[in-house]
Amino acid sequence: MNTHSTKAQLFASLTAYLQDLQESGLDGIPADLATLKETDTAQQPAAIPKQSIESKMTEELNTPEIHETLEQIRKSLGPCQRCKLGATRKNLVFGVGNPKARLVFVGEGPGADEDAQGEPFVGDAGKMLNRIIAAMELKREDVYICNVVKCRPPQNRPPESDEVSTCSPFLLRQLQSVKPEVIVALGTSAAQALLQTKIPISKMRGKFHDFHGMPLMPTYHPSYLLRTGGNSDSFWSVWDDMTQVLQYLKLPVPNKSRNK
Ligand code: URA
Repeated sequence: MNTHSTKAQLFASLTAYLQDLQESGLDGIPADLATLKETDTAQQPAAIPKQSIESKMTEELNTPEIHETLEQIRKSLGPCQRCKLGATRKNLVFGVGNPKARLVFVGEGPGADEDAQGEPFVGDAGKMLNRIIAAMELKREDVYICNVVKCRPPQNRPPESDEVSTCSPFLLRQLQSVKPEVIVALGTSAAQALLQTKIPISKMRGKFHDFHGMPLMPTYHPSYLLRTGGNSDSFWSVWDDMTQVLQYLKLPVPNKSRNK
């Protein structure tokens, strides 16, 4: 990438980010933000008190009275080009399901099928997730499903840290909007991004963790279950994790027999 396009991309990201903050009522944004030009560098840093933006954002996210709808959050994303994934995606994959779900599943990022259809978990991994949801005697429409990043990483590589950090505020807002009783993080990327850690999924799964006051259960990604098809231990690990989730939600735990 040349210096000019990097600068242009940075400028576009910054402008879009500030517009979001402005739309959500943040003080300290210049009224003529929309008219800022790339060459208009003098206005950028001076007008934005970084400290207050960050603390205000955290404050807003943790303020129970402010309730954003998922539609408002989707609208504020717009035709997002905040990170480099915007340039290669076909469809932005926002999320699907019950806006008042008691349970939210968070995956890594869209794959080819999701990119084509604009809906999370509709390919092979999605079929596996559907099996997990059905085994819990829930319906896909009962839960809410989304990803750490909303645009497909090329060649289905894991999202990079700058992509995760750019997209995370929107995921956080979605989770604050749905306010589920439990979040399930599917796989390493989701668990590590949400819990801000590098601990391997195998060490995190099976226990509830705190995510902004919401209990979060990390478990293996459905794609991992597909890859380890012959190894039933990973299936039963996921089932053990989902059993804890059902118990936490005070829902019946279907009886599954292990033919060991
Ligand atoms: N894998 C994910 O993590 N998310 C999807 O939406 C699809 C596959």
